[in-house]
Amino acid sequence: MDKIIIEGGRPLYGEVKISGAKNAALPLITATLLTPGWHVLHNVPDLRDTRTILALLESLGLVWERQGSTLRINSAGLIGFEASYELVKTMRASVLVLGPLLARLGRARVSLPGGCAIGARPIDFHLQGFKQMGAILTLEQGYVDAQVTGRLRGATIYFDIPSVTGTENILMAAATADGTTVIKNAAREPEVGNLVEMLTAMGARIEGSGTDRLVVHGVSDLQPAEVTTIPDRIEAGTYLIAAGAAGGDVTLTNCNPSHLPALLEKLRVIGFTIEEGAGTIRISRPPPVAGQGGVPLRSVDIKTQPYPGFATDLQAQIMALMTMTSGLSVITETIFENRFMHVAELKRMGADIRVDGHSAIIKGNGRLKGAQVMATDLRASASLVVAGLAAEGVTEISRIYHLERGYENLVDKLANLGAVIRKEKA
Ligand code: EPU
Repeated sequence: MDKIIIEGGRPLYGEVKISGAKNAALPLITATLLTPGWHVLHNVPDLRDTRTILALLESLGLVWERQGSTLRINSAGLIGFEASYELVKTMRASVLVLGPLLARLGRARVSLPGGCAIGARPIDFHLQGFKQMGAILTLEQGYVDAQVTGRLRGATIYFDIPSVTGTENILMAAATADGTTVIKNAAREPEVGNLVEMLTAMGARIEGSGTDRLVVHGVSDLQPAEVTTIPDRIEAGTYLIAAGAAGGDVTLTNCNPSHLPALLEKLRVIGFTIEEGAGTIRISRPPPVAGQGGVPLRSVDIKTQPYPGFATDLQAQIMALMTMTSGLSVITETIFENRFMHVAELKRMGADIRVDGHSAIIKGNGRLKGAQVMATDLRASASLVVAGLAAEGVTEISRIYHLERGYENLVDKLANLGAVIRKEKA
């Protein structure tokens, strides 16, 4: 099994360019199913997850080509309507084909995702929404088969919890529905806004982007579109936290500071200097005062929330940083019920963390020690990288395929910042 090996305790210096967002690129790619013709998507990261979704589209008859970070996709040859268990089990976001396939072909058959490493993660909101739009759903052999005769119908859909991919699936289904669809308590994540931008460029009529009430007036035809994937706010946040934990002075480029409101404020409270520019964020730690040593990092409490609250996808990474502070912090996870799998691994590196229900209580002790660790999901792996960069000694992280799902060129980007890090093939 491939590993990442980090010799920790070295500060990071320099610039790192942030890639396009995985969670924005995935729905942009599936939106190309809605209408034939060449769609052009810029700033698409080359990740295991983007390759998986492209393999799924290929299995449905689509063709695509990549030049650098630009993808051209054409769904004129669409013949299939099924996302198999094999694909959905490796990437839950495969369910994002449901909405566009149902809209275009009147049929979609998708394996129901099971539970995963971070929680049960049902898709009942998506399915309820399609039903309200006139689809008939049947469940057979673990697959949801959704069918509609003629066009889907506009409907008013309320989400009990703002679901990101749920909002995206309904938006795509509603773009060509007969009549108006209103999504109440919609997700406000920037990735949803990026999809609205693409659908609008395709000719969809959508109001309320960026709010929790989206109104889609169905149109009968869409055209191919050209759109740019927004920068990955979770990748950006991970590098900021890594630079905070390892120390140094790092500038992120090609990012959007306004997409990270909660993280940037928390980092300031912890004691970092954060400078926001046009497409850049710089993090540094105030220099030590003569005779007094460095400024200690302050502990803070954090609660994950839907956007614009603190992202659950940065919870594991900030937990690694909180172990370096001088006090007690409480991190509460409100989005997923089982997203503390990284705690046991961080404890192997000397962290003092106790989990109590949905909260983790972290007693900062300023010290982490390198160890052999393994990760259970993408963001948990990223937290082990953060911990490894900050720790004394060598950290060996196994199961790094998780990292490759969502971080483009992670090892090279960190090495360019001065980290002593390498990937070792098994
Ligand atoms: N939920 C339901 N029923 C549904 C849908 C969601 O109960 O039908 C619940 C979930 O169980 C969860 C909450 O609603 O408790 C929010 O889940 P959401 O649907 O928003 O999550 P998602 O769309 O499956 C996306 C990201 C995740 C990210 C979450 C939360 C993509 C492809 N995935 O997942 O990203 O954690 O939103 O922000 O956009 C990651 O990149 O590592 C990752 C897991």
